[in-house]
Amino acid sequence: MQTSETEMDIFQAILARRSVRSYTRQRVTHKAIMALLTGAARAPAVLHEEPCAFVIIQDRELLQNLSDHIRPLLSSLPETYDEVNIEAWHHPDFNLFFDAGTLIIICTRSTASFAEANCWLAAENLILAACGMNLGTCIIGAALPAMKTLELKPRFGIPDQFEAVVPIVLGWPRGETRRVPRKAPVIVNMIPSLLD
Ligand SMILES: Cc1cc2nc3c(=O)[nH]c(=O)nc-3n(C[C@H](O)[C@H](O)[C@H](O)COP(=O)(O)O)c2cc1C
Repeated sequence: MQTSETEMDIFQAILARRSVRSYTRQRVTHKAIMALLTGAARAPAVLHEEPCAFVIIQDRELLQNLSDHIRPLLSSLPETYDEVNIEAWHHPDFNLFFDAGTLIIICTRSTASFAEANCWLAAENLILAACGMNLGTCIIGAALPAMKTLELKPRFGIPDQFEAVVPIVLGWPRGETRRVPRKAPVIVNMIPSLLD
């Protein structure tokens, strides 16, 4: 499926992808979202069991309100997520969803083994497809515990029988996104060794 003139091949997208934390106000169209969900739904899935399900929120005000509600609960976070340090998270203006216009929550209602793995594989398809369309994404793991609470789950529009697994913000990147240095793959063994 041709999605745009600037479409990248898959390996270019893998190398170009980074977590985007600053977005323009430009809306992501319904058509683009549907293309991304189609890509997500093609990910490997255990025994074609229960497919992942998606909640899509395109309401900046609601996301800001939810962020304001969740932020004070975030005392046990890791010290940093990339360049976003822990002090920034507690600043009154800090938006956990980076003021992105779209939040996609990948959910499951299955308790089968690997049901969550299905969602993560779908997430990677979605993230890479978005990158190929020059859209930015960032996984918002910090919001996940709140999405599972009885109080906030309905405010995120997650039906009772579903559980959130991967929250991803989506939007048009504002400016360049710095590349985070990544380590080389660690090979602990190779049989037979390529060196022989
Ligand atoms: C499970 C998971 C949860 C994450 N949660 C957050 C988050 O809550 N906020 C955030 O800004 N980034 C989050 N990230 C993004 C990582 O910080 C990011 O992938 C990492 O710093 C590497 O940078 P890169 O994605 O630009 O290569 C998360 C990533 C993963 C895999």
